Order: sequence, then C-alpha cells, then structure tokens
Amino acid sequence: MQRLIIEGGKKLCGEIKVQGAKNSALPLLAGCLLAGDRTVLYGCPELSDVFSACRILNRLGCKCSFDKGTVSADSSTLTGWDIPEELMREMRCSIVFLGAVLGRLGKCELSYPGGCELGPRPIDMHLDALKQLGVVMTEEHGRISCVCPKGLRGAAIDLPFPSVGATENIMLAAACAEGDTIIRGAAREPEIEDLADFLNRCGARIKGAGNSTIRISGVKKLHGCEYKVMPDRIAAATYMAAAASAGGEVGLLGIRCADLSAVIAVFEEMGCGIYCMEDRIFISCKLPLKAVRMIRTMPYPGFPTDAQAVVMAALATAQGSSMIVENIFESRYRHVDELVRMGADIKTSGRTAVIQGVRRLYGASVRASDLRGGAALTVAALGAEGTTSVAGVQYIDRGYEHPEKVLTSLGAKVRRAF
Ligand code: UD1
Repeated sequence: MQRLIIEGGKKLCGEIKVQGAKNSALPLLAGCLLAGDRTVLYGCPELSDVFSACRILNRLGCKCSFDKGTVSADSSTLTGWDIPEELMREMRCSIVFLGAVLGRLGKCELSYPGGCELGPRPIDMHLDALKQLGVVMTEEHGRISCVCPKGLRGAAIDLPFPSVGATENIMLAAACAEGDTIIRGAAREPEIEDLADFLNRCGARIKGAGNSTIRISGVKKLHGCEYKVMPDRIAAATYMAAAASAGGEVGLLGIRCADLSAVIAVFEEMGCGIYCMEDRIFISCKLPLKAVRMIRTMPYPGFPTDAQAVVMAALATAQGSSMIVENIFESRYRHVDELVRMGADIKTSGRTAVIQGVRRLYGASVRASDLRGGAALTVAALGAEGTTSVAGVQYIDRGYEHPEKVLTSLGAKVRRAF
C-alpha cells in the first residue's frame, strides 16, 4: 500500500497553481452526458474520482478521454442507462449521473453510491426531488430502477436541507424537462454556479444559481460546448493550512478569493497574513499560530465541512484552545485519533471537538481513512518534528493532484513510498 513519507519542520515557500475543482468537475462530467454532443472540459484535475466519472461515461457508450487536464466527451453515442454497482461504489458523486441519464434517456438503473465514510450519507432528498419531476422508482436487491412514464416535468421543489448533490441532480434532470422547475432551499456552493454556467453554455436556461432559489426553464435539447472547470477552493484551503502548520509564505494562483471568505477569516484569526487579489491569494504564517474561538461548519457561504480537518490539523499547535462544531456530517472526526498519535491534544464529543494547542507534534506512523482526513494528517506532518508515514494515500489521491509534487515545489520534504 502506498504511503506519503513526510519529513516535517520545513517552512513552505513559493507559488503554486491551484488545481481545478474536483467537486465541480464531477457534476460537469455528468452534464457532458446530458449535452448529447461533443463537450470539452479544460482544467479537470487528474484524480481517481475524475477517472471514475470518465469510466461511467464510457460504460454508458460515450467516448470520453482524458489528456493532460482536458476531458473530451462525446455523448452523441450514449446507449446505456444502467450504471454497474462497481462503478457506483467508487465514489459518492456517481449519484449525480442519475439526474443526467434521466434527463437524456428518461430511464436509469443504478445502485446506492459509495464514497468516503463520513457517517450515514442518505440520498432520500435526491430521490424525493426526482419523484416530483415525474420519476417512478422501484428498488430491488439494492438496485434502483427509474422510469418517467409521462416524461420529466418541471415542478416546485422545496429542499429540507441545501444538499449540494441533490441540487445538482435536480438541475441536471430539470434542464431538459417539460416546463419550469423551481428549487427552493437550494445549495449555494460555488460549484452549483459552475454547473449552472456550464449547462447554460450548453443551451440550458437556469437562473439564480448561487442563491437559495434556482429557476430552470426546461429546453428541448442541449448542445456541446468548451468550458473551464472552476478552481478548487478546498485544495486552496488545504495548502493554506499546510503553510499555517509548517510556517512560511505561499502564493496560490488561479483561485477566486470570494469563494474562500469564511476560510480566510479563520486563517486571519490564527494570525496569518492574507493578501487577496482577484485571482490569487498570498498567505504568510509565522509560528506559533493563535487558537480560534469557534468554527462551525455550515452550508456555503459558511465554513466548509471539507476544510474542517485540515484547519484542525493546523490548530493542533496553535497557542490556546480552539473549538470546532461539525454541523454537516455526523462522523467527520476520524482523523482525530491519528492526530492524537502525533501528540495532539484533541477531545471530541458528538459534533464538537476541542483542540488544546500543544507546542509541537511528532512524526508517527498514521493512516488516512477518508480524503480530507488524509489531507489533515499530511498538513500536521508538515509541521511536526521528525518523519511521518501517512498510509491510505488512495484517499488523498481522490482529491489532490500529485500532492507530493506540489508540496515538494514549496520546499517540503515529501515522497511517495510504494
Ligand atoms: C458535497 C461534496 C462534499 C461536501 C458536501 C458538503 C461533492 C462531490 N461532494 O457532497 O465534498 O463535503 O457537499 O458540502 O460535491 N443528506 C441527506 N439526504 C440526501 C442528501 C444529503 O440527508 O439525500 C445529508 C448528508 O448526509 C449530509 C448533508 O445532507 O449530512 C449534506 O450533504 P450534501 O450537501 O448532499 O453533500 P454531498 O453532495 O454528498
């Protein structure tokens, strides 16, 4: 099993170009299927989850190829509507293919999605919303069969929670439905806006993405387009946390500061200097960091749950006591025991974690058990004394493009062991 071997205590210094957003690329790839034409996506990160999405497209009869960050997908040849269980299990986001396949063919068969284990991750909101658009579902032996006897029809949908994936699924299914769809209580994440912009570029009529109410006027058909995936705000937050943990000065290029407001406020409270320009951020961190009073993860524009673990890793050596409340996922503290192995003083109770800053962390042998938790262990290791071995790199590879190369370019000592 692959590991990252990290020699801690080296300041990070330099500039990196931030990768394209995983959480945007995946729904955009599902959108390619809906386009029914040749679509080119630039800036797709080279990640195992992106390859899984390409495999789903190919499996359904599309011609999809990946070359140096550019995905070319021709979905005019789409024939299949059933996504095999092994592909569904590879990632949670495979569920957004449901809305896209239904939008294109009016039927779909798939199983429950896999993905990182963050506690129960139901898809009830996705299924309820699609039913309101006219989808009839039957479930047998874990397979869900969906048909639309009267076609997809626009509806007014109230989401009980602003689920990112459910909002995306509705947008994909409603883009070519008959009539108008309104989503109230929609997720407002920047990735939702990116999907709307992409679909509109393909001929859809979607208004209001980025707000809680999204209006979709169904069109008969979409067409292909060329589109650039937005920058990855969570990868940016991770490299900011790396700079905070190890100390140093790092420039993140190609990023949109506005997407990171809640994260930037926390790093400022930690005592880091942040300089925002239109398309880049510079972060300057002198150790020791200061503790932060309270971080509550919330739907956007609140503090993102995906940045919780990496920021916690940086706070492990801050002066004073910090508190985190995880409001989005039930079980998102699986990295804590591993941070404690490195010398951190962190106590969790239910959704709350209290981090009592220690003077330093020490290198240890640790194991990632989910994507962002794995990134957190890497962040902690960069600031720790001695050498850390992080196992479970396959989780980290789901979200970070060549992390060892990026960190090495900033002066860290990181290598991948096979
Ligand atoms: C997306 C992101 C993930 C991020 C999360 C929250 C992608 C590929 N993944 O995941 O990185 O951590 O948003 O920002 O974009 N829920 C239900 N029923 C549903 C759907 C969701 O109860 O049908 C619950 C979930 O269990 C969770 C909460 O709602 O507690 C938020 O989930 P959601 O916003 O749907 O996250 P994802 O789209 O899965």
